[in-house]
Amino acid sequence: MREAGAEVVLPTRFGPLDAAEMLKILPGVDAVLASLDQYPAAVVASPEAGQLKIISRWGVGYDAIDLEAATQNGIVITYTPGLLDEAVADYTVALLLSLARRIPESHAAMAAGGWKRNWGHDIFGQTLGIFGLGRIGLAVARRAAGFNMRVLACSRSPKPEAVKLGVRFVPLDELLAESDFVTLHASLNPGNRGAIGEPQLRRMKPAAFLVNTARGQLVDEAALARALREGWIAGAALDVFGEEPLPAAHPLRSAPNLVLSPHQASFAQETGERVSQAAAEAIIDLMSGRRPRQVLNPDVFQSPALRARVEER
Ligand code: DGY
Repeated sequence: MREAGAEVVLPTRFGPLDAAEMLKILPGVDAVLASLDQYPAAVVASPEAGQLKIISRWGVGYDAIDLEAATQNGIVITYTPGLLDEAVADYTVALLLSLARRIPESHAAMAAGGWKRNWGHDIFGQTLGIFGLGRIGLAVARRAAGFNMRVLACSRSPKPEAVKLGVRFVPLDELLAESDFVTLHASLNPGNRGAIGEPQLRRMKPAAFLVNTARGQLVDEAALARALREGWIAGAALDVFGEEPLPAAHPLRSAPNLVLSPHQASFAQETGERVSQAAAEAIIDLMSGRRPRQVLNPDVFQSPALRARVEER
């Protein structure tokens, strides 16, 4: 960005930043290269964001950005689809394996001087249920096929590539009842917030595991903490949370049979460099009068409110 002539301003702390923090940062800013920070209407329509022309999202989830308000206010929103699917799928499998084979537990015992072997569970031949079969879900399905798992999926748009892999599309209730491992890959929308609540957790097998590398808000976390304490399911691995960073006293911090990580599924250096490059290029394109490649709100280019000067194509 500096080579392209931008003055780069870094926030005083690594995010996600809330709306009040964003309002302090945005005055005088033309473009943001955004992480998971909050951009509700109160931010994008604010006088503080009056100079903002583009929010370039580092990543694929844009649930923290009010797209409609951004479009109305002439702000272009871009993202980086297709660049981090494989890294997130790798990490999902890493969590699943850690959980099933109890690797974090064994490591902690050995680091404390002990030597206790833990019995885990098979992966091959087991049933994996994928909730949300978009690009990342499909990348997980490809890996699961390599492990000889039986794969079920519940998705709004069944993909022919998945059918070729042997994935069977089923309703959520059937997926929950039949899977040994359930992994979440749906993007968050108002229709699926809390989709995995008490009834869904109770529908899972008591020996089943839940993995979430998508969004914490897909799960009712209070119900999940109870499910782990009371043994409705065998365990969970979570990389994402309703509130991030996860509060120190959150019940999930002390729940049993749980592997936790701090929203880092896409944090593989090689992937990160590609994503950063693409997110920066979107800003440079727009500020140079070109339409960026991956625009989430293309209607903004027809709007008289558009704040950037963009050449007609
Ligand atoms: C995404 O791309 O949405 C990931 O959660 C990382 O930000």
